[in-house]
Amino acid sequence: MSEDPRILHLRSLRQEARLGGGAERIAKQHAKGKMTPYERLDLLLDPGTFHELEPFITGQGDELGLSTQKFLGDGVVTGYGQIDGRTVYVYAQDFTVYGGTLSETQSHRICHVMDLALRNGVPVIGLLDSGGARIQDGVRSLGGYAEIFRRNAQYSGVIPQISLMLGPCAGGAAYSPALTDLIVMVNKHSYMFLTGPEVIKAVTGEIVDPESLGGTTVHASVSGIAHLAVASEVEALALCRRVLGYLPSNNVENPPFRPTDDDPLRMDPELNSIVPLDAATPYSMHAVIGHIVDRGTFLEIQAAWARNVIVGLARLGGHAVGIVAQEPSVMAGVLDIDSSDKITRFVRMCDCFNIPLVTFVDSPGFLPGVDQEHGGIIRHGAKVLYAYSEATVPKISVITRKAYGGAYIVMGSKYLGTDVNYAWPSAEIAVLGAEGAANILFRRQIESAPDPSAERIRLAEEYRRKFNNPYHAAAAGFVDDIIEPRETRPKVIATLAALRDKYSPAPPRKHGNIPV
Ligand code: HXC
Repeated sequence: MSEDPRILHLRSLRQEARLGGGAERIAKQHAKGKMTPYERLDLLLDPGTFHELEPFITGQGDELGLSTQKFLGDGVVTGYGQIDGRTVYVYAQDFTVYGGTLSETQSHRICHVMDLALRNGVPVIGLLDSGGARIQDGVRSLGGYAEIFRRNAQYSGVIPQISLMLGPCAGGAAYSPALTDLIVMVNKHSYMFLTGPEVIKAVTGEIVDPESLGGTTVHASVSGIAHLAVASEVEALALCRRVLGYLPSNNVENPPFRPTDDDPLRMDPELNSIVPLDAATPYSMHAVIGHIVDRGTFLEIQAAWARNVIVGLARLGGHAVGIVAQEPSVMAGVLDIDSSDKITRFVRMCDCFNIPLVTFVDSPGFLPGVDQEHGGIIRHGAKVLYAYSEATVPKISVITRKAYGGAYIVMGSKYLGTDVNYAWPSAEIAVLGAEGAANILFRRQIESAPDPSAERIRLAEEYRRKFNNPYHAAAAGFVDDIIEPRETRPKVIATLAALRDKYSPAPPRKHGNIPV
């Protein structure tokens, strides 16, 4: 018996939808090492879990009739699926249809899955590959972006929003991700710019190389816009699955627990000799973190930008945590404008998604100088204070070495609201480093000494011995305990357990006024 022609018609339409802008354009996409939306979603989601919504929609916004052709789906694939058995909503732009550009209809499809994600309290993941607002749709495409931006902002801190940049993302295709929690870029494939090279050429006649305008290296190491950078689309999709494992599905859930075979009581003797005796000799805070967290779980964020600080997700005893630390081997772990922004953003992301914060402190303070002052270090540094003070998740800090001046206060000090503060015996908690303090306090004595430079060294040493240690701060009640470095892992895991039911409601208000 021959099949019902209506069913055959449905099948052929589905086939047509999968072909997007046609076989020729798909071949071009493949030749660039890029995939189609369906191929990408197959890799992103658990096998067989993707369900598409509105696949038969076609472009409605081109009133001037400038579009040469209508395509089923209108350049985006939307729907829902699962990652590690948890529901997510997704949209994937199709570069083979008008360069994946955002039409009014495309916006409608994207907003629909964003709304469903919000109503169901699950993440929304965007796979972006788009030339921005579709010119043919004029103001309708601009309005379409406004609809998305508004949702990005309003749903921020309620459900995780993750953006995978899988092509040249211009205009709104860069701004929407900028409003989301995490941006993943692919080397030599992803670009983010507000104005694309074609438009720059048309307007100014200037020919700009997309890579140096807004390639992955630029955004991963100069602008700080990319949170994660990888070498291929396949890696980006796998990384997105990994990242979600650290995040709850929404702001009233806790992040998923992942059992670990790394013993929570594991002591790490190597840590006891990691901090050099000479305070000026650097060591690797990355190594410290690696010794403490569940083996292999540290996922660094913005690793190549503002490298004087480290932020990243990890697990301790199977529970997700956010790690913030200074890297003493880069600019001595000083706090500057970019590192302040990096910490602030990360602390706020952890706070909105119930991820406890563990801070490792080794910083000589804020970077002095005209550039920093003129660049607004007061405003940027204030953000770190604001973010730590505002965060209600469990907060633990461990001072490994220097915690001087502003760095002591800012990096999760007791009276800024950190729940439990630990210090290693190598900790130096003081207003200034010994040399700076001795210079100011004993200036006259140094100047009048027969050998001023020897006197300066002697007095600095005396100051260091008396004040640059954790015992002075502990005696004053500023430190909860001084621990051996090797016991940090069991100590922090036990502390996290003791803080798990922390209840710390904030006074009611519309929202604060963070100094941005
Ligand atoms: C309509 C567009 C388009 C656009 C590209 N295309 N951009 N169609 N509207 N904005 C189409 C091309 O005509 C082409 O169609 C196909 O997409 C692929 O584009 P190519 O240029 O051939 O590809 P490529 O060389 O890879 O370059 C991609 C690109 C470049 C870097 C994205 O096209 C570009 O610079 N486009 C302009 C990007 C831009 O500045 N957008 C900003 C929009 S303003 P065919 O039919 O040949 O396949 C905006 C407002 C938001 O987004 C405001 C935010 C606040």
